[in-house]
Amino acid sequence: MPAVVGVGVQWGDEGKGKVVDILAEHADIVVRYQGGNNAGHTLVVGDEKTVLHQVPSGVLHDGKICVIGNGVVVDPAALLEEIDALRGRGYLEDESLLKISDRAHLIMPYHRAIDQARERLRGEGRIGTTGRGIGPTYEDKMARIGLRFADLLEEATFAEALRRVLEEKNAYLRTMLGEQALDYVRISDQYARLRERLAPHVIDAGVFLDRSLAAGRRVLFEGAQGTMLDVDHGTYPYVTSSNTTAAAACTGGGIAPNRISCVVGITKAYTTRVGSGPFPTELLDAVGEKLQRDGEEFGATTGRPRRCGWFDAVVARHAVRLNGLTGLAVTKLDVLTGMKTVRVCVAYELDGKRVEEVPASIAAFNAVRPVYEDFPGWEEPLSRARSLDDLPQTVRRYLTAIEELTGTPIFMVSVGARRQDTIILQNAFNA
Ligand code: IMP
Repeated sequence: MPAVVGVGVQWGDEGKGKVVDILAEHADIVVRYQGGNNAGHTLVVGDEKTVLHQVPSGVLHDGKICVIGNGVVVDPAALLEEIDALRGRGYLEDESLLKISDRAHLIMPYHRAIDQARERLRGEGRIGTTGRGIGPTYEDKMARIGLRFADLLEEATFAEALRRVLEEKNAYLRTMLGEQALDYVRISDQYARLRERLAPHVIDAGVFLDRSLAAGRRVLFEGAQGTMLDVDHGTYPYVTSSNTTAAAACTGGGIAPNRISCVVGITKAYTTRVGSGPFPTELLDAVGEKLQRDGEEFGATTGRPRRCGWFDAVVARHAVRLNGLTGLAVTKLDVLTGMKTVRVCVAYELDGKRVEEVPASIAAFNAVRPVYEDFPGWEEPLSRARSLDDLPQTVRRYLTAIEELTGTPIFMVSVGARRQDTIILQNAFNA
């Protein structure tokens, strides 16, 4: 009953889509377990680029079951658009392969309106959210006023709950945020149409996954965002509103912790982040610009340019500890080609003292200075490499340093956007 979890080590955008797509070949079922359509997983098959926001990355493989778990917040209109776009390109011909947990919460129009209005009002202090309504939806879940797919399927329950909640949301939108009130009938009609289309996908996903695992099926859990955006363990408050770490595969998938057999941490060979918040190894110079240009570092969901910097081993060790990483998938190694020197942050310095852990205080995290170890760079293009032997000695030395600094073996190295531009050292399903 192997259950493999793939999680982001950094601030999201580590290339999880590609890694999960490759691992999905060995899985029967692929599950998203947190986040929502704030995520953007880019996959390149042949010459075709697909960006997925809510549908698990297994969808590009024939016959894989894709599950949206209870921990995900789902924008049903955006999900339908994604399903239709996928079908238009020949994927998901059998729609029954996509399953949605009856306990997953719905993103409602007022969630998006609140998210966007708050960000506008915050001005300089904005979090830099994706504006998709993710935070307000999780707030309502915890406040126990959220609407779930199970509620959507019960017309009367949904109508009553929506009426009650909308009254409160409209008062908040008008008086606190200076926004227009939203119309009940419009939302109710829209969600009635969505109910009809999405109802066939709704199941008790926890029971389904537990039975599937007991029957020996291979399940892959696909994380969204990254460890540093975890609401508990990330750079709070510059985080997303869910737990992004591996434990969320259990709470957000509806399976027990002892089901998980392997956790793969996906990390870029350097670091990027979108949105505000601390980023000790950020490069605000020509090197950062080169990473942004060569790595095409623009957000898959919002198109925003990503902030770029060196690999941060303090962050990586934080992720190893929190996720219990079994192995690493190092992505975008090819982007470092052409650097004279490649730097790795091995620790921080704060007030003259060496710091080995990620501080909770945002002021402290903003104030730390990276302590770097330098490695010789390389000029060789790497995208043709299919084994470690194909890599120059300098590159292998860099990879060994990452393994040593994190105490974690590398399972996979990505040297280009396409599926085949990958060096596979260990199959996570056999680890
Ligand atoms: P939210 O998840 O839209 O509330 O945004 C909160 C923070 O998480 C912002 O800094 C976003 O840019 C960031 N974020 C959310 N989803 C992703 C993602 O998939 N990749 C990278 N950053 C993300």
